[in-house]
Amino acid sequence: MHTESEGRPVGELMGEIADRLGAAGIEHPAADAELLLGHVLGVSRGRVQALAVTGSRASAEQAEAALDLAGERARRVPLQHLTGRAPFRGIELEVGPGVFVPRPETEGVAQLAIDALASVPDPAPTAVDLCTGSGAIALAIANEVPTAHVWAVEKSREAHAWAERNVSALGDGRVGLLLGDAADAAALLPEGLLGRVHVLVSNPPYVPDAMVPRDPEVRDHDPGLALYGGPDGLDLVRVISKVGLELVAPGGAIVIEHAETQGAAIRSLLAADGWRAPATHPDLTLRDRTTTAVR
Ligand SMILES: C[S@@+](CC[C@H](N)C(=O)[O-])C[C@H]1O[C@@H](n2cnc3c(N)ncnc32)[C@H](O)[C@@H]1O
Repeated sequence: MHTESEGRPVGELMGEIADRLGAAGIEHPAADAELLLGHVLGVSRGRVQALAVTGSRASAEQAEAALDLAGERARRVPLQHLTGRAPFRGIELEVGPGVFVPRPETEGVAQLAIDALASVPDPAPTAVDLCTGSGAIALAIANEVPTAHVWAVEKSREAHAWAERNVSALGDGRVGLLLGDAADAAALLPEGLLGRVHVLVSNPPYVPDAMVPRDPEVRDHDPGLALYGGPDGLDLVRVISKVGLELVAPGGAIVIEHAETQGAAIRSLLAADGWRAPATHPDLTLRDRTTTAVR
């Protein structure tokens, strides 16, 4: 017979945590249970599954820590705030309270920026990521375009502090991070960059002020500055379009993430500002989530 001090079988813990998260309305409770257990046990999600099927046990302390985290997750604290990490393309960012948690749909936005940058016939292409948050897009670009130099701008001091940690861990000395307003990017960036940037990318706040998100993880834990973009959600997009005209080189690209319903409005505001060939692109779930244009 096993006593309490010998801990609990991993498979049993996994089931209990998944049930608890499912009852709390979490969308993928089994995945979250595996990731929380992996965090506590210090192993990958695949290894948690292997430990479960082989009947391995977690110690009593590990079981208690996992159940405590499950309680917080059931109160809809974001999974990434509990593990402190958010995967994004080929990298893993440190995240927590005060910074927007990078989303899978933004990986497709970064892809468009990476593709545009990788096709630039310059030995050291330059990108700018406005509204960088944790630094996700800027750092993914630096990671995947090894010749690129990237500048990242963030207004929130709290988010900037997270980005600073991520840039020093993952930036490879090729990512410059600036604290300030995207509207002032032309003044913040080195003077020599004006009109010479190859790709300007941004996932700005774009939720219309009145459309408060339903998910508690977003509504209560992502910073308001990261979410809301004025009455129609496009306040920052208008700023980025104008600033982009000062930064981007002729033939360079602008890449902007937005809500599914905003593509047409963004294409027309970019065209009105003088950008060429505005085009909206679907994400992997076929939702129109990114608009690009050429300077
Ligand atoms: C939707 S989040 C995106 C963060 C990150 N780019 C990502 O994709 O995970 C928007 C970010 O823009 C920042 N932000 C909001 N207004 C800004 C402004 N005027 N200038 C610069 N950054 C701003 C917020 O603090 C937040 O970090």
